[in-house]
Amino acid sequence: MSGGLEEALRSAVGAAHVLVDADLRAAYETDWTRRFTGAARCVVRPASTAEVVAVVRACAAAGVPIVVQGGNTGLVGAGVPTGGEVLVSLARLTSVEPVDAVEAQVTVGAGVTLEKLQAHARTAGLDFGVDLAARSSATVGGMIATNAGGIRVLRHGSMRAQVTGLEAVLADGTVLTRLDGLAKDNTGYDLTQLVAGSEGTLAIVTRARLRLVPLLPERAAALVAVAGTEAALELLAAARARLATLSAAEIFYPEGLELVRAYRQLPAPFAEPAGAYVVLECAARTDPTDDILELLSDCAAVEDATVASDRAGLERLWSYREAHTEAISTAGIPTKLDVCVPLGELTALVAELPATVASVAPKARVITFGHLNEGNLHLNVLDAGEHAEDVTDAVLRLVAAHRGTISSEHGVGRAKAPWLSLSRTPEEIAAMRRIKAALDPDGILNPGVLLPA
Ligand code: MLT
Ligand code: ZN
Repeated sequence: MSGGLEEALRSAVGAAHVLVDADLRAAYETDWTRRFTGAARCVVRPASTAEVVAVVRACAAAGVPIVVQGGNTGLVGAGVPTGGEVLVSLARLTSVEPVDAVEAQVTVGAGVTLEKLQAHARTAGLDFGVDLAARSSATVGGMIATNAGGIRVLRHGSMRAQVTGLEAVLADGTVLTRLDGLAKDNTGYDLTQLVAGSEGTLAIVTRARLRLVPLLPERAAALVAVAGTEAALELLAAARARLATLSAAEIFYPEGLELVRAYRQLPAPFAEPAGAYVVLECAARTDPTDDILELLSDCAAVEDATVASDRAGLERLWSYREAHTEAISTAGIPTKLDVCVPLGELTALVAELPATVASVAPKARVITFGHLNEGNLHLNVLDAGEHAEDVTDAVLRLVAAHRGTISSEHGVGRAKAPWLSLSRTPEEIAAMRRIKAALDPDGILNPGVLLPA
């Protein structure tokens, strides 16, 4: 690293927080899936917005690109270097302000984990609307940057819907601050929502004002065996029509179940195997178990079901779904594709997937699971070998043919940037490039992420 930049970064954040040695950088340089990796010039760990500003200014002055990282739980290679960037870790931005119970909002630093945010909201009798399996590591800043979704989108929407304001640092060190959390505010462009979901390409989120939701202490969930995707959609339609307290509707398939069972040493959930499995959950202030039981007894799509409402039972039941990511990762380095199609296309997409993958990677297998309510499937391709890019191309084209999107909740990142044109028109991509050029003219923030090089 050049002496001038290193000196400036040390004076910005303190020498102890500029990691230059390869062994100290290593934990930051490879993504969670182990598919994306690169050597950073150094890792910098600012502890305040002022320090982020100083880091950005130093990198801008030296013309050195920045890659921004939260909890390093991202799945599209957006938070790890390709080679030569300064990696800015926001993990030390952990400020937590008191919950504003009247507004039902809270302001927290970008490095606060989802789990800490949830615990903080719950001390005030409230909750946070987004939940996902990586809650112990995923951070608020990264979740905003990717517009993360998770298992409660059905009830509360994705991350964007929770963000009422942001503090963010632009590529020239300018700080945009909008943390008052006004419920209604039509004064011009919504810069907060522009930065949310921009994957660190327009600004670095340092703090966020977040909406909180009622804490619903009574939960009941069902793991339901159904014949396949079509039957799962029939069950979903019934649940949507009848369960006012529905908070999650997830799907997985036999191949994923087998991996999870082996990984977690879990028993088969049912005596007979099924074509697909759905997790339904209701959350309320009074026990919703009877509502779920009534639905299950009336819906013809249900082949078998198990219901839980106590903490241990809920954990056991959810583990069949939530352990998918880790179980798949233990089986190999997956090519992870996160797509969304209209529900009317879901059955056809799932049916056509195996042949599509086999046509370009005969030895590959696809583990499919995801968020049934949104038509958001996580397609995890294992054993694709040297055909990973061909699989990505074939599957994303299939998804586009079914009127779907190539990125539903993980972001485009580096993994899917070359395929952006499958989901966005040339005019849209040109407009995005103009916005990027206006806010980051030298292209130092997360180059190569989201917009194809
Ligand atoms: C999930 O829904 O579990 C996450 O999006 C993680 C994943 O897709 O592996
Ligand atoms: Zn997901």
